[in-house]
Amino acid sequence: MKKKKRKFFNELIEKYKGEGAVPFCRYFGDCGGCLFQNVPYENQLKLKVEYLNIILEGLIEVNSIVPSVPFMYRNRMDMVTAFGKKGLRRSGTYRHVVDIESCPLMQGKSSEVYGKLRLALSKIEDYNYLTHEGYLRYIILRQARFTGEVMANFVVASPEDRFGFALMDILDELDSCSILLNSGLGDLSIAPLFKTIKKGFITESFDEIEYMITPNSFFQSNSEIALKMYREILSYVKGRTLDLYSGVGSISLFVAKAADSVTGVEISQESVAIAEENRENNSIDNVEFICTDAMEFIKEHKGEYDTVIVDPPRSGMHPKVIGRIEELRPERIIYMSCNPSTFRDDLHALENYKITHFAAYDMFPQTPHIETLALLERKI
Ligand SMILES: C[S@@+](CC[C@H](N)C(=O)[O-])C[C@H]1O[C@@H](n2cnc3c(N)ncnc32)[C@H](O)[C@@H]1O
Repeated sequence: MKKKKRKFFNELIEKYKGEGAVPFCRYFGDCGGCLFQNVPYENQLKLKVEYLNIILEGLIEVNSIVPSVPFMYRNRMDMVTAFGKKGLRRSGTYRHVVDIESCPLMQGKSSEVYGKLRLALSKIEDYNYLTHEGYLRYIILRQARFTGEVMANFVVASPEDRFGFALMDILDELDSCSILLNSGLGDLSIAPLFKTIKKGFITESFDEIEYMITPNSFFQSNSEIALKMYREILSYVKGRTLDLYSGVGSISLFVAKAADSVTGVEISQESVAIAEENRENNSIDNVEFICTDAMEFIKEHKGEYDTVIVDPPRSGMHPKVIGRIEELRPERIIYMSCNPSTFRDDLHALENYKITHFAAYDMFPQTPHIETLALLERKI
C-alpha cells in the first residue's frame, strides 16, 4: 500500500479504534495481511463508510455497508515458502516472510490442511526469491464455502514432482491437488499446470448454480458476500444482457434465469474455457461466452443490450469502453467494483446514467478493501 494511503488509513484507525479490540492473530502488525484487527468489527464498518463517503463525495452518500463474518471468510490463501519459512510477507516489505502456523482469515478445513502441509513439507526445499534458487515457491489453499471442498496447489520452480510420500497422509483430506510450474523470475502464484496429483478442480455452489474452480481460475474471495452481491445483481437483470469482464462466467450463469440471453466477454482463454464447462455442467442454454478484449467486442456491437453488467479489474474501465457503453444506450448498467476510486471515476464518465441503487459490501474484513455495487439507469 502506498505511504499516503497507509497514513490516511492510520488516521481512520485512530479515530475508530475506540477502546480497541484484542487482535485475534499473534502475527498482527508483523504480517502484512490485515490492517484493522485492533479495531472492533462494528467500527471497521463505520470506518469503511467514512472512507467511502470521502472517496465518493459528490456522487452518492453512503450510510451503511453489508457486513461479513469478520474472520474465516477467505476462499483462497497463497502462502510463500522462502528463507526456511512458510507464511505471508511482512507488512511493507517484499524481502521478509512471516512464518505463519495458521491464519484466522482462512476457512477452518483449509486452515487445518495448511497446518498439516507445513509439517509434511518441512523437508522440501523452499525457494529463495531474491537469489532465484530452490524449488517450492508457494503453497496455495482454496476452499469452497458452500460445498466445503478443499484444494491445495504447489507452485514450484523446476519441472519435477518432489512431493511423493510427503503427501501420503494428507491426500485423503484434499478434494484436489496440483503442481504449477513457475520457472521464471516473476513472483507469480498463478502459473501453468505441471501435474495434477488429484482431480484438478473443486466445486462451489451458489443457490442452484455449481461452479468448477481450477487451480488458476479466479473466484471471488468471500463466497457469502459474493452470493449476496450476485443475488442483488440478479434482481436488476432484464432482457438481453451483456456481462463484460465475465471471468469464469460466475455472474453470467447466475443471472441467466432472469435474462432473455447473456453474452459474457472475457480476455482470458482459460477462464472462458472454464465458463463454457460451467455452462454445460449447469445445462444453461441462453448464455454464450466470447474470448476477446472488452474494447474489441464493444466497438463492433450496436444497441443490442437492455442490461450491461461490468465487473472490471481494479484499474476500472478504459475510457473508450465507457464511451461505447454510452453509445449502446442500454436501459441499465450494473457496476460491481473492487476499487472505489476507479468506480467513482468511471461513474462520473457515464454522464447519461444516474445511480438508482447503491450498496457497499465488506468482502474483506480486517483489510481496507471494499466491494461496491451500483445500478445505473439511463437518464433519457
Ligand atoms: C474482477 S474479475 C471479474 C470476474 C467475474 N465477473 C467474477 O465475478 O468471477 C475481472 C475479469 O476481467 C478480465 N479482464 C481484464 N481485462 C480485460 C479486458 N480488457 N477485456 C476483457 N476482460 C478483461 C480478467 O481476466 C478477469 O477475469
